[in-house]
This record gives sequence, C-alpha cells and structure tokens, in this order.
Amino acid sequence: MSKILVTGGAGFIGSNFVRMMLNGSSHSIINLDALTYAGNLENLTDVSSNPRYTFVKGDIADSGQMEEVFAAHRPDIVVHFAAESHVDRSVIDASAFVRTNVQGTQVLLDKSRQFKVGRFVHVSTDEVYGSLGAWGFFTEDTPMQANSPYSASKAGSDLLVRAAVHTHGMDCVITRCSNNYGPYQFPEKLIPLMIANALESKQLPVYGDGKNVRDWIYVTDHCEGIRAAMERGQAGEVYNFGGNAERENIYVIKEILRLLGKGENLIHYVKDRPGHDRRYAMDSSKARATLGWEPRHTFEQGLRQTIDWYVQNRQWWERVRSGAYQDYYKLQYATR
Ligand code: NAD
Ligand code: DAU
Repeated sequence: MSKILVTGGAGFIGSNFVRMMLNGSSHSIINLDALTYAGNLENLTDVSSNPRYTFVKGDIADSGQMEEVFAAHRPDIVVHFAAESHVDRSVIDASAFVRTNVQGTQVLLDKSRQFKVGRFVHVSTDEVYGSLGAWGFFTEDTPMQANSPYSASKAGSDLLVRAAVHTHGMDCVITRCSNNYGPYQFPEKLIPLMIANALESKQLPVYGDGKNVRDWIYVTDHCEGIRAAMERGQAGEVYNFGGNAERENIYVIKEILRLLGKGENLIHYVKDRPGHDRRYAMDSSKARATLGWEPRHTFEQGLRQTIDWYVQNRQWWERVRSGAYQDYYKLQYATR
C-alpha cells in the first residue's frame, strides 16, 4: 500500500481519479488542492469520510507550504493534476497559468526529489503538440508546438519534468490526453457548458464555423490510463491517451440538443477563439501496447451518461455557475 499525493484532486479529472483510487485500490490518498474557482470539495463528498483519504489545502507554487506538506505526509508517489486548465482564461490573462503550471510543477519536482518520492506522474495534454490539419495523429514523437498560453505553460511543465529525469535521475512519467468529458466537469468547458445552457434554454455559443475537431475521452477512461502509467509506465516515457472519438464541435452540440429534446434555434455562432487549434487526434497505440490500456466508453455511451449526470445533478452546476462564474461569463461572451 502506497501513500499517493494527488495535486488538484478537487478538480474535474483529479476528483474522478481520487474516487477511482479510493474505491478500487488500497492506497492512501492525500488530496492537495488550492481550491481555486475550479476546485470543489463537493466533488468528493461520497468518499471524503474514507479513512484512507486526507485533504490538504495548499498552493503548489508556494515552496514553503509544499515543504511542510511533503514533510508531514512523506508520499511514495505524486500524481500531479493541479493546473489552470481553461484555454479561454489563458487568453484573457496568462499569469496564473505560468505561476501554477510552470512554477508550481518545478516546486513539486524539487520537493519530490528532496523527500525521495518514488514516482512522479505528470498529467499533461495533447495541446502541447499544437494543431493538426485534416489528416494524421499526434504520437509521442510529435514535436511540441503549443499555440495557446495554456498549452505553452503545459509544454513548459513537460520540459521541466523531462529535465528532472535527465538531470537528476528522477522517476517521472508524462501522460498526455485528449479532451475529457464526464461528471464534475466545470461548466466553462464545451460539453458541460452546452448541456447547462441547453437545460436553461440559453444560447449555445459556437466559436468560428464550429468545425474544429476534438478527440473526446470519457474521464474515467483517462483516469485508468493515468493509473496504468503510474503502475506500469517506464521512467522518462511519455504516454498518449485518446478516446478514438474525433467529432466536430457542431456535431457534439447538435447531439446534446437532440438528446435533451431541445431545438437547434439555441445555436449561436460567435467570434472565434484567438489562435483556435483546428484539430486534435491522438495515437494511443503505445499506451495500448505497453500499458495494456484501452478506453471502455464509446462517445455515444459517454455522452448519454454525462447528460444524465448533469440532468440529475442540477444543484451542483447551478451552484458553481453562481458568483464569480457570472463575471467570467460576461467577460468571455458579452462582446462575441
Ligand atoms: P480543473 O481546472 O477542473 O482542476 C484543476 C484543479 O487544480 C482544481 O481543483 C484547482 O483548485 C487546482 N489548482 C489550481 N491551481 C492550483 C495551485 N496553485 N495549487 C494547488 N491546486 C491548484 O482541471 P482538469 O480539467 O481536471 O485538468 C486536470 C489536469 O489534467 C490539468 O493538469 C490539465 O492540464 C490536464 N488535462 C486536462 C484535460 C481536460 O480535457 N480537462 C485533458 C488533458 C489533460
Ligand atoms: O485537449 C485537451 C484539452 O482539452 C485540455 O488540456 C484542456 O485543459 C481542456 O480545457 C480542453 O481544451 P479545449 O480548448 O479543447 O476545450 P474547450 O472545452 O474549452 O473547447 C472545446 C472546443 O469547443 C474548442 O474547439 C473550442 C470550442 N468551444 C468552446 C467553448 C468553451 C466553443 O465553440 N464554444 C465555447 O463556448
């Protein structure tokens, strides 16, 4: 049994990972999270009384605080999710992205080395590879060509992890995944935003021509990939995960409207995202061959499950859409 320090465990993917590990392993979990706008302890109410679970509020970019956390908990493994994660927010202001994603990752690497952490799993994204044209897939050997401040900060963190392996001999693996969707995703991201707006009969803002393509993966399939990389990955290796489910945004939006029984008159084309990457698609063959991983959900199954969850958990997203979210929504969409 290991002690796993999970950073960002109160966010979307982190909370799904914490739940999976508490219900499906005998490891202890220390959830370290700053509880920014995206962090929500409500995401874990069903597992928070588990004796193997501890929550610590802390900022990964604060070296002094991290020294205390590592000294107090002595983790065997770090699984690092904590990040500023929304591209549109990074277009408005990149400073928190550089602080958390770049500086915060280096602080965690430093503390992991100092306190002799056995394995460091860095959760990264396909966005570090840039944008694809109509054909082809990202492999682990695709050069990094990050295009947004968010993806540039993630690419920076990936390079810091690589440097920790090469310079200090640390045992790190990097996972890069395509677009996740599923329960507990903050409704600023495409799928939960469109579901929530449709349920409230509000306009659905489609950037540009709506033909940008994302490769959608159900969140628990990604979490299983991270677990496989943590358990069976080789130090210094990168593993791509994708859902094998490329869809144009407009297709996804129309499916959501159809499944909710809402009309397409809610669709509202708006000004495009600056620097909007056209297409992402992952080649996950390395993870399939070397980790024995594969996604369990088709896009059709996952989307239905996700819509059901948002219909049944209306209070959850109504609460997170109140307060500061309203200011962000006005700033992001008012002039489009
Ligand atoms: P999220 O925004 O839902 O959650 C991020 C969490 O990190 C929040 O709980 C937040 O409070 C915490 N956090 C932010 N700054 C912090 C700080 N300074 N110190 C401690 N905690 C802090 O993000 P997500 O969508 O769950 O993404 C998690 C990770 O997975 C990120 O690293 C992201 O880059 C990566 N990723 C996301 C996707 C996706 O589709 N969402 C795909 C591939 C990779
Ligand atoms: O690919 C992995 C990445 O996926 C993760 O690293 C990021 O953390 C995550 O946020 C996500 O990034 P995207 O920018 O692809 O996701 P987002 O949900 O913001 O947008 C998905 C697509 O939908 C994209 O082409 C932009 C479009 N979009 C998005 C929003 C919020 C719209 O058309 N309208 C919108 O209002």
